[in-house]
Amino acid sequence: MADDSKPPFTLTASAPLGTSGARKVYVKSFGCQMNVYDAERMADTLAPQGFVSVAAAEDADLVVLNTCHIREKAAEKVYSELGRLRVLKEAAAAEGRKVIVAVAGCVAQAEGADMVRRAPVVDIVVGPQSYHRLPELVAAAAIRPGVVDTALKAEDKFDRLVPPGREQIARRGSSAFVTIQEGCSRFCTYCVVPSTRGGEVSRPVDKVVAEVERLAAAGVREITVLGQNVNAYRGEGPDGRPWKLPRLLARLAEVPGIARLRYATSHPRAMSAELIAAHRELPQLMPYLHLPAQSGSDRILDAMNRRHTRDLYLQRLAEVRAARPDIALSSDFIVGFPGESDQDFADTMDLVERVGFASAYSFKYSPRPGTPAASMDGQVPEAVKSERLTALQAVLESQQRAFNLASVGRTVEVLFEKPGRLPGQIVGKSPHMQAVHVQAGAEMIGQIKAVRLVAVGSHSLFGEFADAVPQPIAV
Ligand code: SAH
Ligand code: SF4
Ligand code: F3S
Repeated sequence: MADDSKPPFTLTASAPLGTSGARKVYVKSFGCQMNVYDAERMADTLAPQGFVSVAAAEDADLVVLNTCHIREKAAEKVYSELGRLRVLKEAAAAEGRKVIVAVAGCVAQAEGADMVRRAPVVDIVVGPQSYHRLPELVAAAAIRPGVVDTALKAEDKFDRLVPPGREQIARRGSSAFVTIQEGCSRFCTYCVVPSTRGGEVSRPVDKVVAEVERLAAAGVREITVLGQNVNAYRGEGPDGRPWKLPRLLARLAEVPGIARLRYATSHPRAMSAELIAAHRELPQLMPYLHLPAQSGSDRILDAMNRRHTRDLYLQRLAEVRAARPDIALSSDFIVGFPGESDQDFADTMDLVERVGFASAYSFKYSPRPGTPAASMDGQVPEAVKSERLTALQAVLESQQRAFNLASVGRTVEVLFEKPGRLPGQIVGKSPHMQAVHVQAGAEMIGQIKAVRLVAVGSHSLFGEFADAVPQPIAV
C-alpha cells in the first residue's frame, strides 16, 4: 500500500491562510439518516490524515458522494452529480490542482467497478462496510485512480473508524445520530438494502455507550440511535449477553447530559412489549415513533414479504398509544407495488384514515435491480402510481397540518439546533419532532427551553419562550 503519511497531490495555490498544508474534503450525502452519520464518520476518519471539512465541492481536494440506491431517482442523481464533478475536476486540473472523486454509499456497493467504467471521473468506489479504509484508498487513488473496495463485512468497520476529535464533535451540534445496528436480513421483495448494507449486525453496548458519552461531553443533548431494523437490536452487553433496544435506551438515558433519545427505523414485527413500555417509563424517550407500514392491504404486505398484517400494525400502534397517549406517529408508504389494485390502495387509504399520522413519507414503487418485485407480474402503470401518490399525500399532508394545529396553544420543550429561515430566528425540535421557529439569538442554540406554540407555518410551527410576555409575531 502507498505511503499516505504525506499529501499525495498538489495543494491548491489559493488555499486560505491557516489552512495551507491542510487537505480539504467535501462529503455530500443523499438518502437516509445512516448516510448522514456515515458522512461524519468518514470525515472523522480522514481528519488524522490532515483533511478538514469544507462546505462546497469547489473548495475540496477530495469530494465524496455518499449515495443512495433505494429508488431509481435517488440512484440516477449520482450520475448528474458526477457530470458536474467532471467539469470541476477538469477546471482544477487546468490550474494544476488534482481533485479526487470518491463514490461511497449504497450505489457504490450496488454498482462497484461498473461505476468507474461508466463514469471515468470516479477515482474511488467505496462501499459502506469499508469506510475505515478510506485513508488507504485515497492514497492509492492518488497514484492510480479507479480503486474499488466493496467488501461486505470483511472486518469490523466500527472498531476501526477513527473516533471524532473535539472539532469534529463540535460540528455535530446539539442533536446527533449514532448507528447501533446496520444491515438488514428481512428481504422485503422491493428493497435493495439487504444487498447494499449486508446482513443485520448490532454494535456492542459498551461501544455505543462510549460513543454517546463522547458526544454528550461535547454538548450533544439528543441522540437518535439508528439501524435499518433498529428495534431488532441485539448487541452484546457488558455482561456478555445480548441486550435489546429498551435496555440499551435505559442505559443511554443515564449518560450525563443526554436529555433526549429517539430511535429509527423500526419494523412492526419487532415492536416488543418492552419497547412499547419504554415509551411510558423512560422520560428521555421522546414521544415520536416512525413505524413504516408500506401498505394497508394484507395481500400486498404478503407480496412485499413484510411478514406483518395490517391488523398487527394497527394493534402495535394502539398499544403504543395506550402507553404514551400523546405520541406522534410517522410512517412510510409505497404506492403502486406490483399487483396493487384499486381495492388494495383503498385499504392503504383506510389505514391512514384510521391512524392519523403526525407526518409520513410516501413513494411510488420503483423497481430495483436484483429484487424479486422488479420481475413480478402486474407492474402498475406510472400514471396510476402518480394518481395514487397524489391522493395519499393529500391526506397525509392534511393529517400533518391537523396535528400541528392541535399543538397551537400548548407549551413544549424545544431543543434549539440551528439558525432559522429568517434572520433573528432560531429553529429546534419539539418532543414530537416538529420544527419550531422562535425569535431569538444564536446563543440559545444547544439549549432546551419551554416554548408556547402560537402559529403554524407550512411545515413548521412558530413559538415564543413560555416565560416571555406574549406579543404578536410576524409569520
Ligand atoms: N428499514 C426501513 C427503511 C428502509 S428504506 C424499513 O424497513 O422500513 C426507506 C423507505 O423507502 C422504506 O420504508 C420504503 O417505504 C421505501 N422504499 C424502499 N424500497 C423502495 C422501492 N423499491 N420503491 C419505492 N420505495 C421504496
Ligand atoms: Fe428494506 Fe425491508 Fe429491510 Fe426495511 S426491513 S431495510 S424495507 S428489506
Ligand atoms: Fe439509501 Fe442505502 Fe439508506 S439505499 S436509504 S442510503 S441504506
